[in-house]
Amino acid sequence: MSEADASAPALVRVAKSPADWQAVRSLCCRTGNGGDPIDPARWPLFAELWVGPYQRLAPEWTYVAEMDGRVVGYLTGCPDTAAFRRARRFRVTLPLLVAIACRRFPWNADARRAVRLALHLDRGLESRLAPAQPAGFARTHPAHLHMNVEAECRRQGIGAVLIERYARDLTAAGVAGIHLLCGPGPRPFYTRNGFTDLSAVETSPGRWVYTLGRRLRVGGRPVGETVTAGGG
Ligand SMILES: CC(C)(COP(=O)(O)OP(=O)(O)OC[C@H]1O[C@@H](n2cnc3c(N)ncnc32)[C@H](O)[C@@H]1OP(=O)(O)O)[C@@H](O)C(=O)NCCC(=O)NCCS
Repeated sequence: MSEADASAPALVRVAKSPADWQAVRSLCCRTGNGGDPIDPARWPLFAELWVGPYQRLAPEWTYVAEMDGRVVGYLTGCPDTAAFRRARRFRVTLPLLVAIACRRFPWNADARRAVRLALHLDRGLESRLAPAQPAGFARTHPAHLHMNVEAECRRQGIGAVLIERYARDLTAAGVAGIHLLCGPGPRPFYTRNGFTDLSAVETSPGRWVYTLGRRLRVGGRPVGETVTAGGG
């Protein structure tokens, strides 16, 4: 979709200004509890944990969906998840630990969890799911995404245009595929938008988390695959 596509449900563009990032942080907190708001006392650290790394490490891969001049949806992502995680350790997690230690954020359950994860006392969801991923997963689906749409603006096609814009830019950058983690609620939305199940793990009794993936294609061929002499 072009940034000026008048038929689209919302204008999708790369997040740029401090106001855009503030809107993304706010929307992240207003949708952080499975689409519902989280407790306002948690907002500053929650936004720092979920949006901060993208703002600091890969700002050109966050998109906002704007309707009547208001940000009503966002997608955060990055083309190379492994490199992103390596960079996050030193450029985001370490400064965040210092900020938590200096009590710049309230000492709450999110802070305790962030510290435990950083010190490897707990395992994050990604590392718990890693053994279930198909062989070559990091090569076939290196990009990832998180996204949310304002409650009253859902089911109007905004999520779909955010994904298509991200997929288009990743394809142009030669990225082979995208993955994401989700629960059962939004899973049909991703299926409708070209994602298929890569793995499913029951993280606690009755609570399933799915990894979904979408290969990116140019002219019918997966991005990154070279054409052989025989055309196969
Ligand atoms: C999931 C979400 C990003 C989708 O964005 P959206 O703008 O609502 O999606 P679209 O309008 O492009 O597509 C909606 C279609 O997806 C499918 N869909 C299935 N389950 C859905 C669900 N739980 N939510 C939204 N769409 C769903 C339907 O086919 C729906 O079309 P319909 O309304 O005609 O039935 C958005 O609904 C949202 O933010 N939900 C709450 C938070 C969330 O789950 N975020 C994802 C975390 S992984």
